[in-house]
Amino acid sequence: MNPVHEVTVLLDVLIPGGRIADITLSDGVVRHIGASGQADRKIRCSDKYVLPAGVDMHVHMRDGPQSRKEDWKTGTMGALAGGVTVVVDQPNTIPTVTTPALLRERIRLASGQTYCHFGINAGVTPDADLEGMAQAGAMAFGETFAGPSSYGEELTREDLQKALCRIKKIEGLVTIHAEVVSQGEDTDLITHTRLRPASGELEAVKMIKQIAPEGTQIHFCHISSADTMAEIVSHQIGTIEVTPHHLFLACEDFESEETYAKVNPPIRSESERRRLMSSWDKIDVIGSDHAPHTQKEKQEPFDHAPSGIPGVQTMIPLLMAEVLKGTWSLESVIQKTSRAPSSILNIPPAGYQKGMRADFSVYPQETEVIVAENLYSKAGWTPFEGKTAVFPEIVVLGGRVSYELGEFNKGNPVWLQGRGYYHRA
Ligand code: DOR
Repeated sequence: MNPVHEVTVLLDVLIPGGRIADITLSDGVVRHIGASGQADRKIRCSDKYVLPAGVDMHVHMRDGPQSRKEDWKTGTMGALAGGVTVVVDQPNTIPTVTTPALLRERIRLASGQTYCHFGINAGVTPDADLEGMAQAGAMAFGETFAGPSSYGEELTREDLQKALCRIKKIEGLVTIHAEVVSQGEDTDLITHTRLRPASGELEAVKMIKQIAPEGTQIHFCHISSADTMAEIVSHQIGTIEVTPHHLFLACEDFESEETYAKVNPPIRSESERRRLMSSWDKIDVIGSDHAPHTQKEKQEPFDHAPSGIPGVQTMIPLLMAEVLKGTWSLESVIQKTSRAPSSILNIPPAGYQKGMRADFSVYPQETEVIVAENLYSKAGWTPFEGKTAVFPEIVVLGGRVSYELGEFNKGNPVWLQGRGYYHRA
């Protein structure tokens, strides 16, 4: 057993804004910022980036009947090795999480295996017990399928409206997969994009705006086009999440029948990708939509291959490479990967102040190249192969070193409850 009051100190941390200070951590929180005293472990950080660890509010950890694709152990090892200490699991599992009993079962499954903190979202289907799942501690509702996807059935406009009213009533957070999809043969990346165009995403967002009761807390998952983003921002409809695959990959990078790049919403053109990159300031959250599928499944003919891309381990490392290049600021990466998702989910934030959650990642000022073999996901592949990234050397969870240069030390990860859990009578 680890001593109860284990103390860890991050030495000479450059805090964004310019101050250099030691950060003392114990019992899961930041104890002190400033000169440090005795500690069980002191970590030199003078030439490193020290970030409040990431919160990935969009992952599919699979497990259960889908454990060939991923399980809680491999998925969360990947998260930790990518600087993420909180993941929020999506409910389009087998079976879909639609009752308090299924939610509790999912929490039980995760608790035994997880390497990082986690929340579990509630599934939104016409017969789901939304109120019961809120009380049982669901983190948020969705991803809610206003457009079909792998393992996600589309809700009708009427069912969606009813669900939004119920979620508003219990003051829940709804997360939405917004797409309008046309019927047709899905034979390659070009047709996939044609059947799921950016204009369909925009249309779905406008529809949500019309039917959602005033004041509903809406979070849009994986927004893939700058026009949709502009609509959400100008009408203040909700918060915006963007994935690394929409920021860093374009259709033109792949052979037309490349199933590994098949994802919903689709990877778009290079010009659309650039517009998305230029909209960086409008993005609230970067989420990975970590959606692992096996290589065998991805090698099926295009129309059969499942949609989805694994990405929890590479998300922050890809962003950090851009920080090193000077594309955007370290502060903005911390905001979009840690502060904003914590605030949207209403969970204790990690950060450089006394009392904050003691989850940090320590990054070198050096890039490396992404290699699928070095990733922990069972998927065993990545569309980011060969891209430049900065991986953390050390990750601290709950005040203790949980990951260091390829070695894991299973700390004390916890289940994070949603707000309905605290409000129950
Ligand atoms: O491509 C996708 N795959 N998009 C989603 O929204 C779901 C995901 C999955 O679960 O595989």
